[in-house]
Amino acid sequence: MSTILVTGGTGYIGSHTCVELIKAGYDVVVLDNLYNSSEAVLDRIEMISGTKPKFYKTDILDKQGLKKVFDENKIDAVIHFAGYKAVGESVQIPLTYYENNISGSVNLYEAMAAAGCKTLVFSSSATVYGSPKSVPIREDFPTSTTNPYGSTKLMNEHILADVCVSDPEWSVLLLRYFNPIGAHQSGLIGEVPNGIPNNLVPYIARVANGTLEYLRVWGNDYPTVDGTGVRDYIHVVDLALGHIKAVEYAMNHKGAEYINLGTGNGYSVLEVLHAYEKACGRKLAYKIMDRRPGDIATCYADTEKAAKLLGWKAKYNIDDMCRDSWNFTLKNPDGIK
Ligand code: WQD
Repeated sequence: MSTILVTGGTGYIGSHTCVELIKAGYDVVVLDNLYNSSEAVLDRIEMISGTKPKFYKTDILDKQGLKKVFDENKIDAVIHFAGYKAVGESVQIPLTYYENNISGSVNLYEAMAAAGCKTLVFSSSATVYGSPKSVPIREDFPTSTTNPYGSTKLMNEHILADVCVSDPEWSVLLLRYFNPIGAHQSGLIGEVPNGIPNNLVPYIARVANGTLEYLRVWGNDYPTVDGTGVRDYIHVVDLALGHIKAVEYAMNHKGAEYINLGTGNGYSVLEVLHAYEKACGRKLAYKIMDRRPGDIATCYADTEKAAKLLGWKAKYNIDDMCRDSWNFTLKNPDGIK
């Protein structure tokens, strides 16, 4: 029975990945500082999977705390989600983002090496592609970033690629997520954003439950199907299942691989809004606003490498994603406490 350390395991993608790891027969250890999540998520994971993961309330900036986790557990591989992830916030407090997402991650990699654990799945992001020249986006496309959050993702990719060159014993999968949305079908775990959501679907969910009055649509003059931004939305359970395939691959190969995790389909803001109206059973108000600085028109994944290397393909569609998001929102009006 292999043991997987999941950093950020009480977070949105981390918690869904813990559920699928347990279902796949892994022992799971969770490390989280609870900055952006609640310890109650561990009870929800147990309610779904029958197992409550061993938990360390630890910050990746705490070197001693990291050492304790590896001293007390034989960790076979690490899935590293822990990190700050708000694009706008990263522009306001870049040093906090670089300290946490870079220094904290390097602490983790050093603790892994010291414990002889050299198998890692890293939570990267499609944001590293910047403004792609064409779509679908392939893993060999140029990378560039336009905000500190994206830069921390790209820097981690470079750090880990250098580690693999320095020590061929390392195995690293760098997973570039497109736009994760939705929730586990049970409605027990899902996305619980802090304050007013920046991302589209958590915002629409609050319009649907009456917390917010209308959706602000950031621009309808893009060269897209209806003028609004097009993105590759992927169900968070599909994303979690992709991590199971990734950790299996990483435990049987050496070196670094970059892999997109998306559906290969793009949906516009208004198409998502209408899908959500179907899910919640009522019309949702919106207003067309100016474009949001830094946004691109269209972004969706080429999914060939994930299919070929991991034998993984997303299977849920936009209606499944909106249905499951709405189910979680209805059942958890105040989040997970
Ligand atoms: C999606 C579309 C907006 C909110 C970001 C990060 C990326 C990743 C996913 C972490 C765009 C439009 C949004 C709203 C709107 N996060 N929109 N009104 O910007 O594609 O990606 O989240 O890894 O790194 O950059 O996602 O959900 O913010 O926006 O019209 O209130 O919805 O303009 O077209 P984005 P998003």
